[in-house]
Amino acid sequence: MYNSKIAGMGYYVPEKVVTNDDLAQYMDTSDDWIQERTGIKERRYAEKHKETATTMGAEAAKKAIADAGINKEDVDFIIFATLSPDYFFPGCGVLVQRELGITDTEVGAIDIRNQCSGFIYSLSVADQFVKTGMYKNVLVIGAEMHSMGLDFNTRGRNVTVIFGDGAGAVLLQPTEDNSKGVLTTHLHSNGTNAEELAMITPGSHGGYHLGLEQFGFPEDDKPGGIYITQKMLDDHLIYPNMNGPLVFKTAVTKFPEVIKEALDKTNHTAADIDMLIPHQANLRISQFVQRMLGLNDDQVHNNIQKYGNTTAASIPIALCEARDEGKIKEGDLVCLAAFGSGFTWGSALIRW
Ligand code: COA
Repeated sequence: MYNSKIAGMGYYVPEKVVTNDDLAQYMDTSDDWIQERTGIKERRYAEKHKETATTMGAEAAKKAIADAGINKEDVDFIIFATLSPDYFFPGCGVLVQRELGITDTEVGAIDIRNQCSGFIYSLSVADQFVKTGMYKNVLVIGAEMHSMGLDFNTRGRNVTVIFGDGAGAVLLQPTEDNSKGVLTTHLHSNGTNAEELAMITPGSHGGYHLGLEQFGFPEDDKPGGIYITQKMLDDHLIYPNMNGPLVFKTAVTKFPEVIKEALDKTNHTAADIDMLIPHQANLRISQFVQRMLGLNDDQVHNNIQKYGNTTAASIPIALCEARDEGKIKEGDLVCLAAFGSGFTWGSALIRW
């Protein structure tokens, strides 16, 4: 068995900066409200009709591949985490393979749909492949183009102000040094409140879970159906739905719990963490977690202030940024943790 190590990293954020004041032109919100509740000052939006989750993921991937010092043809497996894919199907894994120009290698590609925990789930999957010796250069990408799917009217303001676009990628390789690399990963889920942070339309539910009426589905015995109805469009049911207070309350419990699980498993305490990279859900959530773990400001890296919540991309962007800013040194204990839709949550401990 090998340990897997992050041999290369890269991230891409679109050029277009969107401030809180910019959003206040479209909906009843304010810079003060957004900063006070979320810590967010601005976010990036991709160029619509030109950029997608895949194109941004490919830019991040190119940097991670170069950073690892390998050729793109050496990539032997692709894992792509996103909740905002280019298509309903096929997934972004195959699209990014094409975008990178490595279709000739015909390596496997999968998509992971675990939203805000998507990167940690993907890292854990990649880690298992590398540990067993099955693959040597696994490309893990988290990328989101939220801006195409948000409601820019006041009714969508609690969700829309939080999210931004971007992509991050890492390249995982085996190392024979068992004291280094990914030491442990922990993945959890509880589907009880699945719809409390969800985009449920379009989908194959046909009214199941929440009633036919609400979606305008006819009740008949004919085979076949439709993923999206006119009523869904008319009622604006095609946008994400979020029970903010429930998400907040659950997140501040599950973050510390899953971090402690990773620390206990490896005989560490919170004081041993050199750098915590929490999923950038909300600065207030990260600050709460930091306080619960008793960490100083220089033991945590947050960048939600400038990028918003980029879901599956947030951890690889923040991790790469922290490394580039010299905040992570060889031998450091790095902790990654996430919570989000599902609900799903997870953690990873890495000895750098
Ligand atoms: N601008 C101004 N007012 C807003 C607003 C916005 N963008 N969004 C919501 N409001 C209003 C609400 O309509 C509500 O008004 P009312 O009291 O007149 O009904 C009021 O603010 C309070 O709403 P509430 O949802 O209770 O606010 P909150 O204090 O819980 O803050 C969130 C809302 C979304 C910032 C907060 O719940 C949160 O961050 N939750 C976690 C979200 C998250 O992390 N999501 C990603 C998961 S990975």
